[in-house]
Amino acid sequence: MDRRGIVLAGGSGSRLFPMTAAVSKQLLPIYDKPMIYYSLSTLFLSDIREILIISTPRDLPLFRELLGDGSTFGVRLEYAVQDRPNGLAEAFLIGEQFLGGAPSALVLGDNVFYGEGFSDHLINAGSRKAGATIFSYPVQNPRDFGVVTFDQTGHATTIEEKPQKPRSSSAVVGLYFYDERAPQFARELRPSARGELEITDLNRCYLDLRDLFVEQLGRGFAWLDTGTCASMLDATNFVATLQRRQGLRIACLEEIAFRKGWITKAQLMVSADRCGNSEYGAYLRELPLFA
Ligand code: G1P
Repeated sequence: MDRRGIVLAGGSGSRLFPMTAAVSKQLLPIYDKPMIYYSLSTLFLSDIREILIISTPRDLPLFRELLGDGSTFGVRLEYAVQDRPNGLAEAFLIGEQFLGGAPSALVLGDNVFYGEGFSDHLINAGSRKAGATIFSYPVQNPRDFGVVTFDQTGHATTIEEKPQKPRSSSAVVGLYFYDERAPQFARELRPSARGELEITDLNRCYLDLRDLFVEQLGRGFAWLDTGTCASMLDATNFVATLQRRQGLRIACLEEIAFRKGWITKAQLMVSADRCGNSEYGAYLRELPLFA
């Protein structure tokens, strides 16, 4: 069965109030496109074309309006509600039916990745049939994240959620690949001290079976946080700098779909028209000239 994707775009966005008082954080812009585009692009680059978007009852209709059934991008999108922020691992209880026994990839709706070779990492993770794959990234503030250690074969040896005394500076990023057992393991989890079903506990189920692999994203790679106003601005500036320099857009979903042959030129032009006279629309219009 083909791997299916889940984007978790819930949460109250309390660290971004009042910006998020009326609208989901993952709909706010990172430079020229909504934040969730970046997460979706990660799944697209993993060749995942069946995706469940999970958000709050308030915000789900807006995601549906933005992205529709996915046909614009040559993918299939479904939607499901997370009533309360009960933790990342709850995505596998909510998504169990959608997954229907398929392997999965979960991406958080506010994670921005950028770097040469990213697709190779994704294809590596996607091609691993049994077990789970997480991605590590060196950070200055490991206490704020899941922290992992691993051996020379790439097997995780310890994983801890926001440890007081981190055993390494390798943070676990918000992107996880699982075999078909993830919903089954998620059902056995109990809420943590902060009252959430922790993704780190789900990962520990795999670690205990020595089935948790770590793909290392190195120092030449960018994993950007978008949790605060300052980090949103950093991410925006990062995207703007690269896009202006190269004339290529980061996380342009229509472009990825077109280059992968998931949509035709005619479909691309429909998207371009929908974008009116925005720079994004102009980019879509010119794409076939350079493809
Ligand atoms: C969550 C995970 C954490 C991971 C982080 C990545 O943290 O629990 O392990 O490192 O996402 O963004 P949270 O955003 O729930 O604090």
